[in-house]
Amino acid sequence: MTEHDARPPHPLLTDTATDAGRTGDPRQALEALRAEIGKAVVGQDPAVTGLVVALLCRGHVLLEGVPGVAKTLLVRTLATALRIGTKRVQFTPDLMPGDVTGSLVYDARTAEFSFQPGPVFTNLLLADEINRTPPKTQASLLEAMEERQVSVDGTPRPLPEPFMVAATQNPVEYEGTYPLPEAQLDRFLLKLILPLPTRENEVQVLTRHASGFDPRDLDTAGVRPVAGPEDLDAARAEIAKLTVAPEILAYIVDLCRATRESPSLSLSVSPRGATALLATARAWAWLAGRDYVTPDDVKALALPTLRHRIQLRPEAEMEGVTADSVLQSVLSHVPVPR
Ligand SMILES: Nc1ncnc2c1ncn2[C@@H]1O[C@H](COP(=O)(O)OP(=O)(O)OP(=O)(O)O)[C@@H](O)[C@H]1O
Ligand SMILES: [Mg+2]
Repeated sequence: MTEHDARPPHPLLTDTATDAGRTGDPRQALEALRAEIGKAVVGQDPAVTGLVVALLCRGHVLLEGVPGVAKTLLVRTLATALRIGTKRVQFTPDLMPGDVTGSLVYDARTAEFSFQPGPVFTNLLLADEINRTPPKTQASLLEAMEERQVSVDGTPRPLPEPFMVAATQNPVEYEGTYPLPEAQLDRFLLKLILPLPTRENEVQVLTRHASGFDPRDLDTAGVRPVAGPEDLDAARAEIAKLTVAPEILAYIVDLCRATRESPSLSLSVSPRGATALLATARAWAWLAGRDYVTPDDVKALALPTLRHRIQLRPEAEMEGVTADSVLQSVLSHVPVPR
């Protein structure tokens, strides 16, 4: 996950004619997408890459980080740089399930109830601060994510395609009131953690602000749509052709099985988690320009794909063990195929 070039965001300094998505090459279009996000977001490359991987895998993403590390900015920029529909829902304590999925509304003219689609009927839904809303409303979103449809009054209504949820939350210590139910966390393909920026990157953030960058106005920052659904389709068709050696499949299984032997865990990676790691490693291998998957691809995606699918025993947690440290240890112990 390499550092993309930090282009100046100021319109006068920005090359606005880079509609690189029109080359017809989906990998170039997605590279351009990453560069475009870099016009607004400094660093955070693993998170940027994770969002692209999730788009390719038709997965949903949970973004976690302390306040002010650009979680919202990152998803808003992604939505601007992609030619797809997008909506944002701020998850507040008083948000109702119908505010997300939609509801039946009585029409006095026709004397009938008609369905008013909620904001979930979009391509990229930014579910901001999902842990501030009560479980019932969270559940309505999680259900729509899983089923890719909304059922109100017994009638299933399919969601548009592509459909991806990018949900943000603060870490548990900062959390609001309602942590997501552990058992449903695996509906997210990836859990991406946005760290505080390095000193160098933070200076870069301030430099952009000093020269007029306004995070509320991405248009002026020069962020343009550079890729679209057709690029995602083309990319997925290429990814489907990738070969995965039997040793790689066995390696993924061995990693997941090793979590089942860890004394620190009360919940280990399920076969669903193993298939998720296969999917994300494939997408990453393709993004890296290869038509086969290496053990390093698997390693690169293991933490974001698996960290929310395991649960620590309270004793281990008290000793300072983290999901990531368990996974790191598994990665360093399980023999790597060559
Ligand atoms: N890596 C970064 N690149 C560019 N701007 C940044 C970065 N980190 C922080 N900022 C600045 O900080 C602002 C706050 O970011 P944002 O609102 O996206 O944070 P957040 O992580 O969503 O916070 P919260 O948890 O409070 O919602 C951004 O609008 C931007 O001005
Ligand atoms: Mg935010």
